[in-house]
Amino acid sequence: MAVFPVTHLIVVIFFLDQAAWAFSSTVALKQSVSEQKTSDIGFVCPRHRLPYTYPRFSVCSSFKQVVGKSAITMADCTKGFEIFILSGQSNMSGRGGMQTIVAKDGSTSRKWDGIVPAECAAEPGSILRLNKNLEWEEAHEPTHIDIDTSKACGVGPGLVFAASLLRARKYKVKPTGPQIGLVPCAIGGTSIVQWEKGRVLYNHMIQRTKAALEKGGTLKALLWYQGESDAVEKSLADHYEQRLVTFFNHVRTDLNNHNLPIIQVAINWPAAPHPEYVNKVRSAQRAALDHVKHLHLVDALGLPLLSDHIHLTTEAQTELGLMLLEKYISTGEGKD
Ligand SMILES: *[C@@H]1O[C@H](CO)[C@@H](O)[C@H](O)[C@H]1NC(C)=O
Repeated sequence: MAVFPVTHLIVVIFFLDQAAWAFSSTVALKQSVSEQKTSDIGFVCPRHRLPYTYPRFSVCSSFKQVVGKSAITMADCTKGFEIFILSGQSNMSGRGGMQTIVAKDGSTSRKWDGIVPAECAAEPGSILRLNKNLEWEEAHEPTHIDIDTSKACGVGPGLVFAASLLRARKYKVKPTGPQIGLVPCAIGGTSIVQWEKGRVLYNHMIQRTKAALEKGGTLKALLWYQGESDAVEKSLADHYEQRLVTFFNHVRTDLNNHNLPIIQVAINWPAAPHPEYVNKVRSAQRAALDHVKHLHLVDALGLPLLSDHIHLTTEAQTELGLMLLEKYISTGEGKD
């Protein structure tokens, strides 16, 4: 039997994988988004018709990120600098591309595979992130690397959202300076009570956003993905709607931005120990729309999960970033 070089095998597996993804995306495209069922969770992703075209099949091809550049001075930060808060739990912070590494002694650790979706590509210097020292620096994945530090971070939806927003505008003006600032604040495993006004996470988020705004720019939206930790217990799920609405109102008051657009992600947890509480949280997320103006919802239902069954894959995060963007644009909140 001819020896098949391992390297070839890896290449074949890689392409099979890509092909499977491309195929499943195409299949999903033919289904209407409304037809999705919880039982369909697998490698099928909801496909949304976007108001612009983008190179779908280059998803997950890696590209070189500009990482490690020193903090950017915002001296010439223009009026057009748009700021977005990224907040919530681990799926906002990002775990896409996390792999389990087994050491020689059998111990395991989690490590990011380093693959960045092509949708994250942007002109150097056009998208910034506020690091933990409250300095703007070139945005890169993982967006929450120095923020959500209790676990290793991977790809989230924030950078795809930002880079695709710039592309959606078709570079009317080719970005030559900072266009978008991301303020990462999400922390894995947190429940809504931990985000209550006055508590550490809340204060941190408000403080970081104010620091971001101090150097110029306009706060455009809060992207919020949280609720799984409130779907584990009846009393948490029961209180979710009221706590969520209160949280949104407090954030707006404390940022003195009463119409701040908020786009939240409706949770979906196929392997939840208590599906009834997940449904309760999902209903609460929908019901909040009636009480909070300029609040919008996108649904994570059907997005593919990593083998840990807990976190969204890089492909799913890419899709989610685009869903958030579509909502932002289609609701008119994203008018520039
Ligand atoms: C991440 O999102 C997926 C899809 O909504 C969900 O099934 C999972 O429970 C989430 N994980 C966490 C830790 O919130």
